[in-house]
Amino acid sequence: MKALIYHGPGQKALEDHAVPRIEKPTDAIVKITKTTICGTDLHILKGDVPTCAPGRILGHEGVGTIAEVGSGVTGFARGDPVLISCISSCGKCEYCRKGMYSHCATGGWILGNAIDGTQAEYVRIPHADTSLYRIPTGADEEALVMLSDILPTGFECGVLNGKVQPGSTVVIVGAGPIGLAALLTAQFYSPAAIIMVDLDDNRLVTATQFGATGVVNSSDGNAAATILKLTDGRGADTVIEAVGIPATFELCEEIVAPGGVIANVGVHGTSVPLHLERLWDRNITIATRLVDTASTPMLLKTVCSHQIDPTLLITHRFKLDYIIDAYETFSQAAQTRALKRWSMPRQGMP
Ligand SMILES: NC(=O)c1ccc[n+]([C@@H]2O[C@H](COP(=O)([O-])OP(=O)(O)OC[C@H]3O[C@@H](n4cnc5c(N)ncnc54)[C@H](O)[C@@H]3O)[C@@H](O)[C@H]2O)c1
Ligand SMILES: [Zn+2]
Ligand SMILES: [Zn+2]
Repeated sequence: MKALIYHGPGQKALEDHAVPRIEKPTDAIVKITKTTICGTDLHILKGDVPTCAPGRILGHEGVGTIAEVGSGVTGFARGDPVLISCISSCGKCEYCRKGMYSHCATGGWILGNAIDGTQAEYVRIPHADTSLYRIPTGADEEALVMLSDILPTGFECGVLNGKVQPGSTVVIVGAGPIGLAALLTAQFYSPAAIIMVDLDDNRLVTATQFGATGVVNSSDGNAAATILKLTDGRGADTVIEAVGIPATFELCEEIVAPGGVIANVGVHGTSVPLHLERLWDRNITIATRLVDTASTPMLLKTVCSHQIDPTLLITHRFKLDYIIDAYETFSQAAQTRALKRWSMPRQGMP
């Protein structure tokens, strides 16, 4: 099969690779029909994720059909259409029993990180019964790819951890797919204002179309002052960091209102200054989280009933053969206006 392989910081290639095989009775092999590239894949390529070793097939998002199941898999059979969660969970360990699947003792975020991932024609999914979701008949598969990671991430790490409330003021720093997923799902709670911050005007236009009540381009270096002005000097009750660099986290520290929450979503590869000399008396909370995907069944219902439409996030489509071009397009989003893009397998492959 063809697979996109990470060869160390800055290096990747589409190569021939052995088709994965069942290794444990609880495994399934999924034939991928659609996968995507995530901001986290770009972090891996920057060298920010040391658990991902050279030689790894990248990708942790996708939908497909079951090609084969191990003898211990009871919930799925060959031919079933499935959504792959970016988090593998055994369902039995202490963390899984708490719903904190991201820290599963034998799973968590391993796909496209510690084990081979979904940017390939086939992928092995461990703990298949508790890490895959059956795709309802008639559902739009393209929309569901956004449920592997970005919708649960925006919702759990941003909206739930950020304690978005009716009537509250929300600022989301970063209008990439994750920031926009937080924007879509924050609207479940009817906040009074949602202000999106980015360097890229195209993404801010999209944010307005997705329901942002205000947008701030932070490239002039005055974002904090602008946001304070927009919020009558208070700042925001919820500030969601959806970029993953020190400058954006520091901006969140400057604009959080007294009693507010900074919900960090971004993957950080370097240390970030924490200004406790300014924050110690402001009653704020800082939350961090690796997505658990515990909200996936609920989000699946909101997508299938058209309460939210994640297809708005899909801007580009490529065959798997052109995944290197897809990475180029995604990493130069300001020029290409790319948000998410999915890849389809080549025709005629086994
Ligand atoms: N916590 C988790 O479980 C989890 C899961 C998935 C992704 N993530 C992380 O979430 C973050 C966002 O993911 P994404 O796919 O949307 O990434 P992305 O790279 O597509 O989007 C990031 C956005 O931030 C903007 N940006 C960059 N520098 C900025 C700055 N200085 N000021 C304002 N905006 C700036 C970019 O223009 C872009 O629109 C990444 O760090 C990703 O690794 C975390
Ligand atoms: Zn992802
Ligand atoms: Zn577990």
